[in-house]
Amino acid sequence: MASASIWKDNKVLKKWLKKYQMDFVDGNFNYDMNNQLSDPLLTTIAEKLNINKEYIYLGAGSSQLITVILNLKIWNKIFISLPEFGLYTRNIGLNNVNSEMISCLTANDFINQLRKIKSTKDDLLCISSPRWFSGERFTDKQIEDILLIFNGSLLIDEAYIAFSNKKSGLVDLALKNDRILIIRSMSKTYFASGFRIGYLITKKEISGLRNTFIAPHSISTYSARFMIKLLNDKKMLNIFNNTIEYIKSNRDLIYETLKHNKKFMIIKSEGNFISLIFKKEKDFNKCYDLLSNLPGIQKFKMNDIMFIKVWISDEKFSKIVIERISKLE
Ligand SMILES: Cc1ncc(COP(=O)(O)O)c(C=O)c1O
Repeated sequence: MASASIWKDNKVLKKWLKKYQMDFVDGNFNYDMNNQLSDPLLTTIAEKLNINKEYIYLGAGSSQLITVILNLKIWNKIFISLPEFGLYTRNIGLNNVNSEMISCLTANDFINQLRKIKSTKDDLLCISSPRWFSGERFTDKQIEDILLIFNGSLLIDEAYIAFSNKKSGLVDLALKNDRILIIRSMSKTYFASGFRIGYLITKKEISGLRNTFIAPHSISTYSARFMIKLLNDKKMLNIFNNTIEYIKSNRDLIYETLKHNKKFMIIKSEGNFISLIFKKEKDFNKCYDLLSNLPGIQKFKMNDIMFIKVWISDEKFSKIVIERISKLE
């Protein structure tokens, strides 16, 4: 799977890391508690996004931010669209929060279901876009509709946005509308999940958030320095852009070849994966048997939805997937 090994497999990335890694090592704690907004990683991210620092919060991976937001005591009820990244339901389950799950195959389905629920201004609705489940991205119009239908705040998890057709995602909207919270992760964009860096963008004023819940110093000095160096290195950023474009074309190759397959449904994905969604358990199991010894294949049965997630890597991998699936007919 590309995401697991790209830092080791790509010669340029490997050389870069070897060259600078000693600069990243520092056993000291360089965080200024009295001047949190001076944090160098926060400053770098704010500059690159051209956003006021006050609206950005750093976390040790977007997972930390998700956990913190879900556990704030300010929500009356939390709504989650399913199937979703498991951390959302795990947090809800453990903390006995007032919640409601909205199970749906497509973004349109979701909006239709949302019309039937009652919400208040103190509720929180969580979606991922592109969706963790299918890679479908909510269109700007769909987000507009959601904001009209739903009365509370909207957490939009943009972990996979770098692989979408709108890399800027919904940041502009978050800067205009304080009901929106955007979650971003460096794990997917830079294949750097081990460095544990994520950020939240919101204008929503949540008292004490930066002080108490999301201390930026939860990110190690090593990771922060690594990311600052990377974000300032145009050549490296170019490598990532090219890698992402390559993955997108290998993803679309699978989609275009298999979209009319009668054994499963595929929704057009804007993530670095593609999901095959099954109606019949027999086809689901058979397809998994055909693919299971390849890297990056995951099988899920969630809320009665059976799907196989294929994490995209090189062209050879996409061709093998297509070839194996042809045996399903
Ligand atoms: C939708 C979604 N959100 C968040 C995360 C967590 O990412 P991080 O490594 O930044 O904690 C993942 C990881 O798989 C994910 O799929």
